[in-house]
Amino acid sequence: MKKKFTRREALAGSFLITGASALGEVHAGSVTPAQTEGPFYPDMDNDLTQVQGAKKKPAGKFIYVHGAVYDKEGKPVERAVVEIWQTDNKGIYNHAGDPRHPERDVNFQFFGRCVTNEKGQYSFKTIKPAAYGASENWQRPPHIHYKVYRRGFEDLTTQLYFAGDPLNEKDGIYKKLPKKDRASVTVQFKPANQIDSDLARAIADGFGQKKGLEKETFVGKFDIVINAVA
Ligand SMILES: [Fe+2]
Repeated sequence: MKKKFTRREALAGSFLITGASALGEVHAGSVTPAQTEGPFYPDMDNDLTQVQGAKKKPAGKFIYVHGAVYDKEGKPVERAVVEIWQTDNKGIYNHAGDPRHPERDVNFQFFGRCVTNEKGQYSFKTIKPAAYGASENWQRPPHIHYKVYRRGFEDLTTQLYFAGDPLNEKDGIYKKLPKKDRASVTVQFKPANQIDSDLARAIADGFGQKKGLEKETFVGKFDIVINAVA
């Protein structure tokens, strides 16, 4: 009877093959050869104002949003993945389901990703998103969608709102939150030259900006608490 190999045995066996290449198999002592990433590698770093290969900057007011991810005991969560997505300056998403998709700002990155450092910190450079019509008589206030995940924790999907926006109080999704919880997703953005200078320098350094933060930009802090899996 022919012996059936388990996946592990089959893989171990492939290490013994020398010389002749079996398709897609690995060989002892050699690493998978590198290839160019090509022009279509997804651009998903934490600077949404710079699209790979684009010479122009996106339209809109530039903002920095930073903060830290903590567990419920207040301990920083290192190596958590923080993802954001939002509209451009005209309230358009980079999604085929958005009817205005063809008019979107091609110089805007729309999606960003950052992994927290040992202090749980993350930061993004982006633009202030615009309000958009969720239905005929409902306009969503400017907001940034967040997803945070880390092994050992429950995934968190939430939204950041801009303090002082009059649309917040009319928004069905914002209002679904108990009043006491609204403050924790509402962020006050301040002109970059009014924030602590060490903080401004640290954020600028994170984006390799030797000259610091641009005067006309705004900075907001959004800290996030995630729930450990029981
Ligand atoms: Fe949205």
